[in-house]
Amino acid sequence: MAVQIAPSILNADFAHLADEVGRIAPAADWVHVDVMDGHFVPNLTLGLPVVERLAQASALPLDCHLMIEDPDRWAPGYAEAGAASVTFHVEAARAPVRLARDLRAAGARAGLALRPATAVDSVRDVLGEVDMLLLMSVEPGFGGQGFLDLVLPKVRRARELVTDLDVRIQVDGGVSSATIERCVDAGADVLVAGSAVYGADDPAEAVRALKAQGQA
Ligand code: DX5
Ligand code: ZN
Repeated sequence: MAVQIAPSILNADFAHLADEVGRIAPAADWVHVDVMDGHFVPNLTLGLPVVERLAQASALPLDCHLMIEDPDRWAPGYAEAGAASVTFHVEAARAPVRLARDLRAAGARAGLALRPATAVDSVRDVLGEVDMLLLMSVEPGFGGQGFLDLVLPKVRRARELVTDLDVRIQVDGGVSSATIERCVDAGADVLVAGSAVYGADDPAEAVRALKAQGQA
C-alpha cells in the first residue's frame, strides 16, 4: 500500500487556516486536524465550528484526531461536519465498537488512537471495526516533541494483527526525515507530520520529500 502523508496543522498559523491548508494541498493526501479539549490533554486547540468550515474550505479530506474526553458524545458530530476520517482515543471511549459503527454510519472512516503506554494487543479484538489505527509516537498534547522509539515494536505488532484486514496504520508525533523510514519499515502507511512540514520554508516540498523518502 502506498505511503500517505497527513500534515498536521497544529503548527500552522491558526489565523489563516484555509491558506495554510492550501499550502500543502498540492502534495498532501490528508490534512490532519488535532482537536484537543484541555482535559484529555493539557492543551486546547479547536473544535466543531472550525472543523465544519475547514471541511467546506479545504480541497483535502480532513483527518480529525480527537484528543478529547467523552468521544462517544462528540465524535459523531465531526463526521457529520464533513470530516472524512475521525479518530478517537480508546483510553477515553466508553463503547469503542459502538462509536466506530456510529462514525461509519455517519459516512466517515473510523480511527482508533493509542497513547504511547497503551498496548496494541488491548485493541486486537476490535480492529475489524475500524479503518485506521493511530499509534502515538509522542505523548499527545503538543507538536514539535521528540519521537519515541517505543512505538516501533508497536507498529510491527499492529501490522501483524491487521494482516487480513483493511486497516491503515498511522504514526503520529515526531515524524521527520530522521524518523520516517523506521516507521515505514516497521509497517506504518500513513504518517502525520506537523513541525517537519509547517516548519519548512516550502511545506508542499517538505511533504513531497517525506513521501519520497517513505516510498523508497
Ligand atoms: C500531538 C498531535 C500531533 C502533532 C504532530 O499531540 O497529535 O498530530 O501535532 O506534530 P509533530 O509532527 O510536530 O510532532
Ligand atoms: Zn495528531
